[in-house]
Amino acid sequence: MVEEFIELNLEAILHRILKGYPLDPNGVHGMSHWARVYETGQRLAAGLNEDLEVAALFALFHDSRRVNERIDYGHGQRGADFAATLRGSLIHLSDDRFERLYFACVHHTDGMTEADPIIQICWDSDRLDLARVGVFPSPWLLCTEAAKKPEMMEWANRRALQRECVPAYHQWAEKLGEFKISE
Ligand SMILES: [Fe+2]
Ligand SMILES: [Fe+2]
Repeated sequence: MVEEFIELNLEAILHRILKGYPLDPNGVHGMSHWARVYETGQRLAAGLNEDLEVAALFALFHDSRRVNERIDYGHGQRGADFAATLRGSLIHLSDDRFERLYFACVHHTDGMTEADPIIQICWDSDRLDLARVGVFPSPWLLCTEAAKKPEMMEWANRRALQRECVPAYHQWAEKLGEFKISE
C-alpha cells in the first residue's frame, strides 16, 4: 500500500549522508547511482502500489556508508544502522516500515530474491543499475515480475550504461548547493 511521504526531506538527508561520506560523491556507488536507484524504485513502487518512502530511503541509505568502491563487506549493515540514527529527526517511519527499510539495506548484496514486496522492489532498483559496472542483471537475480519486463530492463540498462545523471540527481545537486551557501 502506498503510504504518504511525511516530512521527508531527501536533500536534508543527502546533506547529512554526504557530510560523513568518505568516497567521491560522483563515484560509481555515489549520488548518480542513488538517483537512478531512486527513480527506478519510485517507478516500481508506484506501479505495484507499494511504499514509495521506503523505496526512496533505500536509494539514499543502502550505499551511504561504503568505505571503498569494491567489495565492501558490511556496508549495507552500516547504511541501515546510520538510517536508524536519524529516526525521529529526518526519518519518520513506523516500526514495521522502518524494519523493511533496515532489512532491505542490510541484505541488499546477499543475492536474495524472496522477501516482502517493498523489499524486493528495493533490491530490484539497485540491481537494475548494475550495467554501470558492466554487469547486465539476469532476470533470475531480479525479484519482481515488473523488474523483469524487457522494457524495464532496457530502460534501466540504458541509463546505467551511460551512468546517466537523471533528473533526481540534478534536483538534489541544486538543493545541496543551497545548503552549502546557507552554512
Ligand atoms: Fe551496495
Ligand atoms: Fe547500490
